[in-house]
Amino acid sequence: MRWTRLRRLRRVAHEGQREGQKVSLTGIKPTGEPHLGNYIGAIRPALEMASSYESIYFIADYHALTSVRDRASLANWTRSVGATWIALGLDPKQTIFYRQSDVPEIFELTWVLSCMTGKGLMNRAHAYKAARDRNAEAGVTDLDAGINMGLYSYPVLMAVDILIMNTDVVPVGQDQVQHVEYAADIAGSFNHVYGDVFTLKIPEAVTPPGDTGRVLPGLDGRKMSKSYANTIPLFAPEARLRKLVRSIKSDSTPVEAPKDPDSSAAFQLYENFAASEDVADMRRRLEAGGTGWGELKNALYEAINTRLTPMRERYEELMAPGSELDGILADGAAQARERARPVLAGVRRAVGIDPL
Ligand code: TRP
Repeated sequence: MRWTRLRRLRRVAHEGQREGQKVSLTGIKPTGEPHLGNYIGAIRPALEMASSYESIYFIADYHALTSVRDRASLANWTRSVGATWIALGLDPKQTIFYRQSDVPEIFELTWVLSCMTGKGLMNRAHAYKAARDRNAEAGVTDLDAGINMGLYSYPVLMAVDILIMNTDVVPVGQDQVQHVEYAADIAGSFNHVYGDVFTLKIPEAVTPPGDTGRVLPGLDGRKMSKSYANTIPLFAPEARLRKLVRSIKSDSTPVEAPKDPDSSAAFQLYENFAASEDVADMRRRLEAGGTGWGELKNALYEAINTRLTPMRERYEELMAPGSELDGILADGAAQARERARPVLAGVRRAVGIDPL
C-alpha cells in the first residue's frame, strides 16, 4: 500500500516523544457508569499495557455527545470514568490522561481531515450501518431517521484523536478495529496529497494482552454490557453490590446436587475476582454437591468487595467536586495540547492555511 511506503521514506521527527518507546493511545467513551465488565475487559489490560508504551488515555466526552442527551449524566459519567481509571491505578505521571473536549486542536483538525475523507467511507462504517439496519428492521422508511451528523462522522473525530497524538498503536476491542483502520486510511489520503510537506503517522489497532477477548457475564448470563442493562457497577456501595450479586441468574439445582460451575455466571465472575486456590476449592465443592448457588454468591460478593474496597474509597474522593481529579485532567490536557500543536501546525502548513 502506498502509505506504508511513504511512511518508510519519510520519518518525521515527532517532538516531545519519549525516545524509542511506541505511543499507545486509547479513548474511553463516557456513556454509563463503569462496570466490572469494563474493568476486566478493557481497563485492567490497558493499565497493564501502560508501562511498556508511552501511553495516552483520554475520556472521549464529545464522542459520548453523539448519543447522550442528559447533561447531568454526561457530566457525571465523564467524571466517573476519570475517577475510575485513577482509582484503579492509572498513574498520571506515566500516562497522559485528559478529556477530549479540553484539547481544541482535535476539533480543528477534525474539520481539515473531514475534507480529506470520502463520504463513501463513512457510509460503510459499521456503527452507522447498524443504525440504519435498526431503522429498516423497525419498518422506518427513512433509514437515516434519528441519525445525527455526529454519529455519521464519528470515525473522523476518532481518527483525529489518534493521529493528532502521533499514535503507533491503539488498544481497542474488536468492535473498534474498523475505526482504527479508517484512521490509517485517512492518514494515508492526507499523506498522499501533502506528504511532501508533512506526514501523519499511520496507526495500528492492537488487542491488549492478558485478558483480551475475555467476556465477563452479566446478571442475566449474557455478556456484561450496558446495552443489556445487566451490569454490576464497579463502585456500587456495598449494600447495592450485595443485592446485585444476589440477583445473578442461577438455575434451580438444589443445594445437595452436584453442579456444573462452568454453566454459572456467578462462577465465571468468581474466577475473575477470587484467588486461584479459592476458585479451585469452590469448583470442587460445587461439583461434589452440597454447596448452593447462594453460598457461591456470598463468596463472590466477598471477593469483589475485598478487591474493590480500597479503590472505592479513592474513587469517592476523586468524585467529590473540586477534587484532585480536576488538576490531573487539566495537567493532562496541557500535555496533550503540547503534543497536538505541532501536528496541527504541520497540517495547516501542508494544506496552505498559514498562520497569521
Ligand atoms: N470509539 C471508542 C469506543 O466507543 C472510543 C474512542 C474515541 C477511541 N476515540 C478513540 C478509542 C480513539 C481509541 C482511540 O469505545
